Amino acid sequence: MSPESALSAPDPDLFDKIVNLSKRRGFVFQSAEIYGGFRSTYDYGPLGVLLLRNVKDAWWRSMVQLRHDVVGLDASILTPPQVWQASGHLANFSDPLVDCTNCNARHRVDKLDDPDTCPTCGTSGSFTEARDFNLMFKTQAGPVADTAADVFLRPETAQGMFINFANVLNTSRKKPPFGIAQIGKSFRNEITPGNFVFRTREFEQMEMEFFVPPADSQRWYEYWCQTRMDWYLDLGMDPAAIRLREHDAEELAHYSTGTADVEYLFPWGWDELEGIANRGDYDLTQHANASGEKLDYFDQANNERYTPHVIEPAAGATRTAMAFLMAAYDEETVNDDTRTVLRLDPRLAPYKVAVLPLSKKDTLTPTAHEIFDIVKGRWMADYDETQSIGKRYARQDEVGTPFCVTVDFDTLDDRSVTVRERDSRQQDRVAIDRLDGYLAERLA
Ligand code: GAP
Repeated sequence: MSPESALSAPDPDLFDKIVNLSKRRGFVFQSAEIYGGFRSTYDYGPLGVLLLRNVKDAWWRSMVQLRHDVVGLDASILTPPQVWQASGHLANFSDPLVDCTNCNARHRVDKLDDPDTCPTCGTSGSFTEARDFNLMFKTQAGPVADTAADVFLRPETAQGMFINFANVLNTSRKKPPFGIAQIGKSFRNEITPGNFVFRTREFEQMEMEFFVPPADSQRWYEYWCQTRMDWYLDLGMDPAAIRLREHDAEELAHYSTGTADVEYLFPWGWDELEGIANRGDYDLTQHANASGEKLDYFDQANNERYTPHVIEPAAGATRTAMAFLMAAYDEETVNDDTRTVLRLDPRLAPYKVAVLPLSKKDTLTPTAHEIFDIVKGRWMADYDETQSIGKRYARQDEVGTPFCVTVDFDTLDDRSVTVRERDSRQQDRVAIDRLDGYLAERLA
């Protein structure tokens, strides 16, 4: 059996288990829940904000910190219409929408199994003509509500990199091949948001635009496809649950000579985590023409001026965080009980360490606080003294904490603690003086 077929039937309950765990343990809450909930928007709770931050940090580390050829950017979310005019979003960033005249439900016609039947009420032939619905959120800047003041919430972070190409080139002393990376919120008025945080109207992206000499673009495209796949694998994705799918000719944007999606095997099937595109010189040329500014590069060594081609790995941070949650979720039977454990890579785990005094007795508290002080400067740590130690281990397993440090009554005599590892449940007795080194060897 190939690894892919071994995974061809994901746990049918996994989706519900992840949604339930997310709410119960404070990863993700429905937004505005006390007012009945605001559909398709979510708030990241105490554990979710840590997981999401760790996903973004892992991306930034690999894409910016560990490279000499990529720099960072944080561009504005509010953007004037000229940018979206030049990028093509005003004209083309739309989905075909139909309304059901029977129940008033709206659907994306390209996503319907049967384009003549409304999946909400089951009526056939009730749809209006399809019309294009632009996905950008529009608002007004300033107090005067006229069209001159229209601004848009960006639907992708990418344009921030293109319109700052010359600024970055002139200030960073970089030359092609080099990249500009950005993490931030994007907004799309999706007609059919859904599958929990998979498709939402407000989400976070992690995008990088890599500017290369035109002749080298295919080589760099292949390099980035491989490099991005390696990133997911390095962080613990099962190779059988992740794949790179090349777009065929009909799927390609007119300016792209190659695009591939990194796909994950979600409970509902293979779906996109990231797109990697060879965008040619489309974006810089569009903005150069529209703005009248030169957005090219003079290569002194070869005495030639050219518009760099762009390779773009564009990933979703919120979507990827959910995929890592699903990939890490495991249940095993231990002493006739079901143990739920998130086998998250320690770099992604919300808490790296939990400090657990065996009892709430005052005699243990000062030493437990001492341990917390040792670990907290270096690792995100939890401190939990409620309920039995078994229940506390179970709670930490369920949120993926790699190490639990237990302070017991022997600690007061031997100045040692018990360190329990999440996956193996193996316990080591470690001297407090050695604890920092012990954990450092095992946590990145
Ligand atoms: N600049 C190219 C670009 O934005 P995209 O494929 O539209 O490409 C990149 O978006 C990634 O952003 C997607 O692969 C996905 O992970 C994430 N993404 C896009 N729309 C999303 C949405 N509505 N909700 C959550 N994530 C989304």
